[in-house]
This record gives sequence, C-alpha cells and structure tokens, in this order.
Amino acid sequence: FHRPDQTRPAVPDMDDVLNGRRMRRLRRSDWSRRLVRENTLTVDDLIWPLFLVDGEKRRHAVASMPGVERLTVDEAVRDAERAARLGIPALALFPYTDPDLRDDAGTEALNADNLVCRAARAIKAAVPNIGVITDVALDPYTSHGHDGLLSGDEILNDETVAQLCRQALVQAEAGADVIAPSDMMDGRVGAIRRTLDGAGFTGVQIMSYAAKYASAFYGPFRDAVGTSKTLVGDKRTYQMDPANTDEAVREAELDLQEGADMIMVKPGMPYLDIVRRLKDTFAVPTFAYQVSGEYAMIKAAAANGWIDGDRAMIESLVAFKRAGADGILTYFAPMVAERLAAGR
Ligand code: PBG
Repeated sequence: FHRPDQTRPAVPDMDDVLNGRRMRRLRRSDWSRRLVRENTLTVDDLIWPLFLVDGEKRRHAVASMPGVERLTVDEAVRDAERAARLGIPALALFPYTDPDLRDDAGTEALNADNLVCRAARAIKAAVPNIGVITDVALDPYTSHGHDGLLSGDEILNDETVAQLCRQALVQAEAGADVIAPSDMMDGRVGAIRRTLDGAGFTGVQIMSYAAKYASAFYGPFRDAVGTSKTLVGDKRTYQMDPANTDEAVREAELDLQEGADMIMVKPGMPYLDIVRRLKDTFAVPTFAYQVSGEYAMIKAAAANGWIDGDRAMIESLVAFKRAGADGILTYFAPMVAERLAAGR
C-alpha cells in the first residue's frame, strides 16, 4: 500500500527553471516600466472627427455615440479652437446633410457652399494652424446612402470618380488641407490628384482610405450622418471583404502609385494586423480610423460599469501605436488630449 510523500512536493526548483531569466524584474516599479516602454501615445497622434449640421449655436447629441455631438458651423469653430488649445494637429469633417438636399447623384457634394465647405472656411479663418481634412465620398449627400452613383443595383465606378473629383475641388477651394477619399472607387486617388494639380492645388495632401472594409462597425456613424435608415443594400461591391489581407496591400500600393501622401486603414482595432502589414510593406505615413462602432462599444461597456472606460480608451489607442500607426482618427481625441495634458 503506497502513501504519497507529503514532505517532498513534486514541484521543481524555480531557480533551476528560471536560471536568472526573470521578465518581471523590469516590471517591478513605475520608473522602470516607464524607462523600458516601447510606444508612447502623444497628442500629435490624434485626428478628431467632427460631425456637422445646419443651423446656429446648436449641438445635437448622437444617441449611439455618447459624448459625440453634431455641431453647427459656429460650434465646430469652437471645437476647432479647443482642439488647437489642446494641441490636436487635425480635424476631419463629416456632414449631416438635410434630407431635402439629398438626391440620387449627391449633387450637394459639389455645392461650393455646402456644410463641409462652409465649416472648412470658417475653421481655417478662425484657427489657421489646424489641419482640416475633408471626406470625399457621396454617401452623406445621396438619397440612397451609397458612396457612389447608383444605376439599378450597380455602383458606377468611373462616373462616380468624376463626381468625386469635383467634390474634392470644392473642398480644396474652401481651404481643406487634406482630401480623404473614403469611397473605395478604383482610380479615384489618381484622378483627384490630377484634378487638384490642374487647378493649382499642388500642396493639398491626399490621405486615402486605402484599406476600407465593408464593416458592421460603421453603424453609429451612419446614425450621425443620417444614412442608416436610407442605405439601400450594403457596400460590399466597393468596400473590402473583412477576410482579406493581400488585397489591402494591393489597394495601398495602387493608391500610393496614384499619388496618395498617406494611407489609412479602417476600421481600426479589428484590423491592426493590416496596419502593421502596410506600415512594414510601404514605410509611408499610415493612419488608422477607430470607427464609430469601436467608440460606441467602449462607451457602452463603460456606461454599464463592465470596463474602465478611461483605461480602455488609452489602451486601445496605444495598441494602434504598437501596430505601427503614425496617427489615429478617434472620437476620443479631445478626451485623451485632456488626459495627456494633465499628465495622466
Ligand atoms: C463613408 C464613411 C463612413 C465612415 C467614414 N466615411 C461610413 C461608411 O462607409 O458607411 C465611417 C466612420 C465611422 O464609423 O466612424 N464614406
């Protein structure tokens, strides 16, 4: 009859196992953790997306994005001033277009006096040193909510690109510093570059949404710009399949050949592998868009007390830096900039 030996437990001698290799040594104190930290988030990494709406002196809450509001142009100028005080380098503008102004062809996109153009002019006049990025795509302006022109159930590529060139031009004329095509039509970067150059806007930059996926994470954005109810079908014939990686390399390569100064990956958190791959492959300024659904998830879980919202915000943004992003479009921009300024 055998009785296990209680005095000699079957665990190994840890000094033998570790042989001096203790990873936790560097994690013991705050000074040491700071000293060996590999990536740092700074205010210079932030691009703040703003939603615009017609009217005066009003801020409308976006229900699915707590803490985010649609702003009238005067209020957008106030937020631009706040961004400048905080040191945020750039803003990205997105309009909620009055439904009466939407049509099949997205004509309002070409109006030199549309909401985005008025806001760009007002912001550049009040805060000349902040970068203004304008989105090129037709979806906030079309009655069907698609980024391009629709014929039957097909999105026409080349006809859409012609509209996008005109849209980019009115935005550049309004003072946009960066044109950001988010439409995913083929050849639009090259066509927009030629249009801008032809009109003398050789200094206006292009940040292409190079790898933009057909994602479920854009839901709250579509509420904010008022396309969620109107969108007919889905965007899978132009936005990318979430299952693909090589295709992102090809998209980015074409956009860079066509003249993009910077590339972007969108959504952000679920696509950090794409950010890393594009950064390693092309070594160009690479951005990521932490989209509305990512913001909403963090906010919703925090509101329920399920996660620490502030810590999740910072952790999610540092993850972009770790993946190789040069900057992040994020609705958290003012909140994180305030925390960074306070040294937290
Ligand atoms: C549309 C556009 C979208 C976003 C930015 N530009 C939505 C879409 O493609 O349907 C989404 C941004 C976000 O979800 O925060 N051109």
